[in-house]
Amino acid sequence: MVGTIPEGARPLPQKAPGAPLMSSGTGTPIASPAPAAKPPIDVDVPDPIVEIRDFDLWYGKFQALEGVSLRVPRNQITALIGPSGCGKTTLLRSINRMNDLIPYVRARGEIAVDGRNIYDPGVDPVEVRRVIGMVFQKPNPFPKSIHQNVAFGARINGYRGDIDELVERALKQAALWEEVSDKLSESGLTLSGGQQQRLCIARAIAVSPDIVLMDEPCSALDPIATQRIEDLMRRLAEDYTIVIVTHNMQQAARVSDRTAFMLAGDDRTGRLIEYGTTDQIFSTPRDERTEAYITGRFG
Ligand SMILES: Nc1ncnc2c1ncn2[C@@H]1O[C@H](COP(=O)(O)OP(=O)(O)OP(=O)(O)O)[C@@H](O)[C@H]1O
Ligand SMILES: [Mg+2]
Repeated sequence: MVGTIPEGARPLPQKAPGAPLMSSGTGTPIASPAPAAKPPIDVDVPDPIVEIRDFDLWYGKFQALEGVSLRVPRNQITALIGPSGCGKTTLLRSINRMNDLIPYVRARGEIAVDGRNIYDPGVDPVEVRRVIGMVFQKPNPFPKSIHQNVAFGARINGYRGDIDELVERALKQAALWEEVSDKLSESGLTLSGGQQQRLCIARAIAVSPDIVLMDEPCSALDPIATQRIEDLMRRLAEDYTIVIVTHNMQQAARVSDRTAFMLAGDDRTGRLIEYGTTDQIFSTPRDERTEAYITGRFG
C-alpha cells in the first residue's frame, strides 16, 4: 500500500521571496507503508539548540527519513549512529539545509535552531550555513594557502577585524597552529590527512558558527590523528555544539554526551530508534535493536 502525505502536510520550505530554496521536487512524495512507531523523544534536554520535530525527507519518491524528532543540547556532543544507509548523513545535512542543494529533495516537519524553524519561508539558507558549519568525511581544503583556507569564509562574510588574528585564533582552537604557524602561505593540500581535517575544522569555526556538524570526520584518519580530532572535539564543545556522525562505536562512546541510534526498515526509510545519554545507550539500551547494533550483531 502506498500512503499519501497527511492532511496539511506540505513540501518544505515554502517559496520565500528572493531566497534560493529547496526545490519542491517532481513526483508526489509517499508516506512509508508501515505506520511508524513514534520514537522516544528525549525530554531531558530543557534548552535545546536544535529541535527536530517529526521530520520527514524524500529523495524524489524515496522516503529517506520518517518522523525524526530529536533535541540537540547546547555545548555538548551528540553522536548519530546506525548502519550504512539509515539516513545519518541525510539527517545531518538537513540541520544546515545542505540538502537544499539537491534539486529533487523535499522535506516536511520542522527543524528549529534557537527556536526558529530554519525551513520557514524567509530564512536564508546561506545564513543558516554560516551559523551551522560542516566538516566532511574526507578532508577537503581548498587548493589555496593555509591562511586563505581559514580566512575564506570570514572574507566572504565581510569580516572587518584583523584577519591574521582571526586565522591564528581559529588555527589555535583547531590545535593546528603550532604545526603550521611558520608556513601559512603554503598550500593546504601539502598537509597530512589529519592536519587537513584540522584545517577544515579551523575553516569551519573561523566564521564563528554556533553548531558544527561533522560527518564521519575521522574515517580517513589513522588512530593518532583520530585521537587528536577527538581531543579537539571535546575542547570545542566548550564553545560550540557538535553533532557527529560516526560508524565507530568506541568513538561515539568516547566523545559524545548523547547518542541517537537510527535504523532503516525493510522499506529503507530511516527512523530514529532510540536517543539518550551516551552512557544510557551503551550500558542499558531500551530497544533490542539498539542493543543488537551496539553489540555488533548487525550493521
Ligand atoms: N542524493 C541522493 N539521492 C537519492 N538517494 C539518496 C541520496 N543520498 C542518499 N540517498 C539514499 O538515502 C538513504 C540514506 O542515505 P545516507 O547517506 O543518509 O545514509 P547514511 O546513514 O549516512 O549511510 P553511510 O553510513 O553509508 O554514510 C540511502 O538509502 C541512500 O541511498
Ligand atoms: Mg553517511
